[in-house]
Amino acid sequence: MKSPAKNYDPYENVVDVMEKAVEIGHINKSMFEIIKNPQRETKVYLPIEMDDGHVEVFEGYRVQHSNIRGPFKGGIRFHPDCNLNEVKALSVWMSLKCAVANIPYGGAKGGIKVDPSKLSKGELRRLTRRYTFAIAPIIGADTDIPAPDVNTNAQTMAWVLDTYSQLAGKPSPGVVTGKPVELGGSRGRNSATGRGVYFSTKFLLQEEGKDIKDASVAIQGMGNVGSNAARIFYHRDIKVVAVSDVSGGLYKKSGLDITDISDYLETKGNLLKDYNAPGVEHITNEELLTCECDVLIPAALENQITAEVAEKVKCSYIIEAANGPTSEAGDVVLENRGIPVIPDIFANCGGVIVSYFEWVQNIQELTWSRERVNEMLADLMSKAFMDILSVKKECDCTFRMAAYIVALRKLVYAEEIKGIFP
Ligand SMILES: NC(=O)c1ccc[n+]([C@@H]2O[C@H](COP(=O)([O-])OP(=O)(O)OC[C@H]3O[C@@H](n4cnc5c(N)ncnc54)[C@H](O)[C@@H]3O)[C@@H](O)[C@H]2O)c1
Repeated sequence: MKSPAKNYDPYENVVDVMEKAVEIGHINKSMFEIIKNPQRETKVYLPIEMDDGHVEVFEGYRVQHSNIRGPFKGGIRFHPDCNLNEVKALSVWMSLKCAVANIPYGGAKGGIKVDPSKLSKGELRRLTRRYTFAIAPIIGADTDIPAPDVNTNAQTMAWVLDTYSQLAGKPSPGVVTGKPVELGGSRGRNSATGRGVYFSTKFLLQEEGKDIKDASVAIQGMGNVGSNAARIFYHRDIKVVAVSDVSGGLYKKSGLDITDISDYLETKGNLLKDYNAPGVEHITNEELLTCECDVLIPAALENQITAEVAEKVKCSYIIEAANGPTSEAGDVVLENRGIPVIPDIFANCGGVIVSYFEWVQNIQELTWSRERVNEMLADLMSKAFMDILSVKKECDCTFRMAAYIVALRKLVYAEEIKGIFP
């Protein structure tokens, strides 16, 4: 699978899509100028003593797009291709996502340009702690709340939480979400994004008059989002015909054994290219995107469904579990081909919704059951989907445009009633 192409700019991409939504949704253009730009961009340089004694300096970012609807909120990504413009785009998507989901947060995102597979656990811990130290003055439970994203997880959040709490001189569980349950994490947070992907698929197919039980699914990316989504489909007897990771993909027309594949991936360093089972074919990531399936779920990185790939996909529906997996040109091709796309800002909002539940539990010093969390997630996502459907009918547009209009109307209205400072 390709990393996002060098000439692809995710921030330009998201601004173009927002501008289209502003036109179609008759949104106040002058107030939209505020939303177009982030409120603050922070770049930090992080010196780390490596295990062999030499020093390396890593580049890190935190972009705070908007806090008009509540504290800044968004994950931290560790990836060698991470850069300021990618983090900027991801921060905008967070503001839009929280507005669509109707939770009282703004949007932010962070990242470090690093290949974490090349670092030891100790080096990663020191890097995470140094990054947290560098951004500590601008994060906090009521200012900006990080969470996991690509190549970061509950362990990373435990290090962020501990570093921040040491600096604050008191336990500060509300400063991050997606942390281990033992440190104040929420039940259901780890699987929340994948669960939300399942709900998005179910709502779309219901709307199309189809039974989800008859659908076959292909998922690109078997990390937190992809593997949890795969597991949830599999346990509901929905056929997962293809999955992939950074090394390549697997295909089986009659359906893959997701429990076996997930168990195999549990061992650190295991990659799908080395997985073997009867009847399972090895495919490339591009072949996964264009394989025979009803529902295609990109759950890895941006810019995977380009115009060229969009011409070749054989699915009937796309659910964007990753952020920004479809380029603007790819989107046009899919629209012309009549393939509905449930956009990232709704399809993967399950994660930030349960992050919000985690934060509410932390600041009220409560713990909720997994059942309660999952029920409340289904309820919020169902309401958000109804809002999108209603705007889709009003404006006669795609799901993506409708979701952007729902979000931008809320953000722009908030700017209007607040007015400009000073
Ligand atoms: N974790 C969350 O709660 C969450 C919430 C909302 C959106 N997302 C988005 O979902 C997507 C996946 O996030 P995740 O948390 O599952 O990440 P992850 O690091 O857990 O998994 C990423 C998966 O993609 C594959 N991958 C990574 N880099 C790749 C590359 N260069 N080429 C091919 N494959 C690659 C990995 O092998 C892995 O299977 C991202 O776009 C992320 O922003 C995540």
